[in-house]
Amino acid sequence: MRVEDFRGEAARVIARHAELESDAVERMLTVPPKPDMGDFAFPCFTLAKKLHKAPPAIAKEIAEKAAGDLELLHGAQALGGYVNLSVDRTRYADAVLREAVTAGEAYGCSRDGAGHTIAIDYSSPNIAKPFHVGHLRSTIIGGALVRIFEALGFKVVGINHVGDWGTQFGRQIVGLKRFGRPEDADDLMSLNRLYVKFHEEADGAPELVEEAREWFRRQEAGDEVALALWRRIRDTSLDYFKRIYERLGVRFDSYTGESFFNDKMDAVIEEAHAKGLATVSEGALIIDLSAEGIDTPALLEKADGTTLYLTRDVAAARYRHDTYGCDRIVYVVASGQSLHFRQLFTVLKLLGHPWAKDCVHVNFGLVQGMSTRKGNVIYLEELLDEARDRALAYMRGQIEKRLDLEDEETVAEAVGIAAIFFADLSKQRIKDYRFDWDLAISFDGDTGPYLMSAHARIAGILRNCGLDPDPDADVAPLVEPEAHRLVSLVARYPDVLREAGRLYEPSVLANYLLELARGLHSSYAVLRVKGEEEGRAQARLLLFTAVKQVLRSGLTILGIQPLERM
Ligand code: ARG
Repeated sequence: MRVEDFRGEAARVIARHAELESDAVERMLTVPPKPDMGDFAFPCFTLAKKLHKAPPAIAKEIAEKAAGDLELLHGAQALGGYVNLSVDRTRYADAVLREAVTAGEAYGCSRDGAGHTIAIDYSSPNIAKPFHVGHLRSTIIGGALVRIFEALGFKVVGINHVGDWGTQFGRQIVGLKRFGRPEDADDLMSLNRLYVKFHEEADGAPELVEEAREWFRRQEAGDEVALALWRRIRDTSLDYFKRIYERLGVRFDSYTGESFFNDKMDAVIEEAHAKGLATVSEGALIIDLSAEGIDTPALLEKADGTTLYLTRDVAAARYRHDTYGCDRIVYVVASGQSLHFRQLFTVLKLLGHPWAKDCVHVNFGLVQGMSTRKGNVIYLEELLDEARDRALAYMRGQIEKRLDLEDEETVAEAVGIAAIFFADLSKQRIKDYRFDWDLAISFDGDTGPYLMSAHARIAGILRNCGLDPDPDADVAPLVEPEAHRLVSLVARYPDVLREAGRLYEPSVLANYLLELARGLHSSYAVLRVKGEEEGRAQARLLLFTAVKQVLRSGLTILGIQPLERM
């Protein structure tokens, strides 16, 4: 008997007595808000219109008929406008835990995406310009999405669309030449400082701005001196970012940034002409999108002949589609660029690419309050160091609660990153949020460190219980409501991953893990292992093994390290 059989029976029974299709019912089934209300709930509200009856009356009728028609399920009852169905808890626990423990690390993963490739464009900072909080959010959310889709069986191509071409390089070069030493080109902090310096000085000095434009013109014209400087600045920036990405546990399959598309844009412009889409407006080349409901035209080429962010993105999308054969391209970029992506997807459609409909802008809101000493620009390395130091201080202040800590520094680094990641991933991505160090790092709140400690605690119980866990243990002793709650949560994990993927929303997973950790927390006193009769102890160990596995898998997907001890 498999876990899905229980849900399947719920759907079939309801379908039979409500005269609906099983599949439709299955999609409508939800989970009641409290475990003692049952395990599956069927809302009767949409039926009310069709049957001209009040939802509670319909629910009562269906529940009465269903109650006499159950096999794996145990009971059906009407509650308000819902029919609530309960599983036979022992059989359910047996199916769920057996399935989880047998699948091991792969539990929750599926083959839903087999044969499909998704390109995920994320992080994508502009080099020779400071890294902003938005890029960090994109890195965190994008990284989680990469791992969610991998768990769902998709082939994922992680792409860093580095902003490595544009007028800012001219400014960076002038900053370097005027105010720095040549070796500053090899150090990102110096480059950042000189970039800021340029902007301070250029205010009221138009000749500096002109000089910067000239450098970028030279760069676009292929001047070797300008290109050599550009390359050096680019290398310095990429080296720095790669170091940080390693620290964050983020990897990319490709760093094809904007410059990579320099020679691929003429084709876009020619095609726009050939399709009769392009028009000249005030010397610039545009595509009018008003017939598509977008008032702002897409700008393909500026009056001075330089190409644009949008044109590069058109070329990049086509390149990705052709190179990776991907069926979906996902862009993890702040909401501020919504118009850009609407334009991009529309231009792709007008150019005749049917796959334009499979491009998705995964947008997100702003973060406030995430800064180190230097304001809204993030010096990532500083931010991570600060996270680690704060984690260390916090841990040292918690002496009495500390478990066996091995390498304090390593743990603190992982905790710091968990704090930052989870603060972000637990919020619905579209919402703006305020980052607060104390809230993020606490081990007691709804935080990454709290989840890490839940995992370490359960690892400790398994380690110290003095028993060898028996994978074939009988689950009959798991009669407590706390146990049933945990079993139900474990059962939900595969669907949680699906839902997180469907909505491009890691917060679905993050909040589920919180629920699981809370369930665990409130079960310790009831579900003791040490000193219990062996059969009961083994049943509980089996349950804890499954829960630990899910915590471990979920945390890893979010980019948080599940340590065994901390
Ligand atoms: N570099 C851009 C920025 O910082 C983000 C790029 C996002 N990806 C894309 N294909 N446009 O604003």
